[in-house]
Amino acid sequence: MKESLDALLGTGLAELEDAQGEAELQELRVRYLGKKGEITARMKMLGGLPPEERPAAGQLINTAKAQFEARFEEVLDRARSREKARRLQSERIDVSLPGRRSALGARHPLTIITDEICAIFAGLGFQVAEGPEIETDYYNFEALNFPHDHPARDMQDTFFVDGSRLLRTHTSPVQVRTMLAQEPPVRIIAPGTVYRCDSDATHSPMFHQVEGLMVDRKITFSDLKGVLTSFINQLFGTGTGVRLRPSFFPFTEPSAEVDIACVICSGKGCRVCKQTGWLEILGAGMVDPEVFRHVHYDPEAVTGFAFGMGIERITMLKYGISDMRLLFENDVRFLRQF
Ligand code: PHE
Repeated sequence: MKESLDALLGTGLAELEDAQGEAELQELRVRYLGKKGEITARMKMLGGLPPEERPAAGQLINTAKAQFEARFEEVLDRARSREKARRLQSERIDVSLPGRRSALGARHPLTIITDEICAIFAGLGFQVAEGPEIETDYYNFEALNFPHDHPARDMQDTFFVDGSRLLRTHTSPVQVRTMLAQEPPVRIIAPGTVYRCDSDATHSPMFHQVEGLMVDRKITFSDLKGVLTSFINQLFGTGTGVRLRPSFFPFTEPSAEVDIACVICSGKGCRVCKQTGWLEILGAGMVDPEVFRHVHYDPEAVTGFAFGMGIERITMLKYGISDMRLLFENDVRFLRQF
């Protein structure tokens, strides 16, 4: 008994000595002192000895166990300090280095202006509505009174996803979706991304609009002019000149283009307004009865107005940006200025 215990302890201590690192040491501990460990097993065998031999044998095993434990702690300490020394050598940290500053982001100028426009209309009682950027021909054209072969479609050439689905050319389909989903009265604005086959310094194939729609009993053209004048005064400053010119859209009748007095020269005439003193900023008009029929509203009972404006153009005017492409190049030197 004593010899075999000595032999076991001898092997155990030698193995502790040879172990590489903390993980191996912990494994050895389990192998010798764990529940099913070698030294533990000897304890369990005590019951098989004659009663008078048990105390002495028990003491031997306890001593062996204590020796193994003591050695284990020593070797573990040694392994840990070696590991620490190694890391101090290889992982040098210069605590005097300055920290890494995380860059503070900011809203894009288009987002700033969109938020501003939405806030003004929220103040006038309009709610924000949204629609999909991939639209069907029906919502983008048909329900807005653009028949299939109508020449007004030419001005809104776009990208087709398949035979009947396309990237919406304006936010006006949200008018149709909103009216189909609810009964009058309606008072919504719909900001969003739109697409057209157009690209130069003042046109981008992807741009943004804010649509507006108000439908109720007895809405008149004066309401349209009043709401837009209030909006323009809030966005461009009180007293900004407003002018309505007759125009055409298939889904409004009558229709108008809305101009503001040039924000650069205050109407005197300059390069930005092409010497006219006026800047066109949106299209508008009274909802055509044909559109009401598509959404099952009774054109005898309700009237309404709609308008749509390009956010890029307004942003460029507000900040004096001359090339629309700057808005999409994501150059931080440009974006930081807003
Ligand atoms: N959807 C038109 C356009 O993009 C603008 C518009 C909206 C005109 C609503 C009238 C009423 O050109």
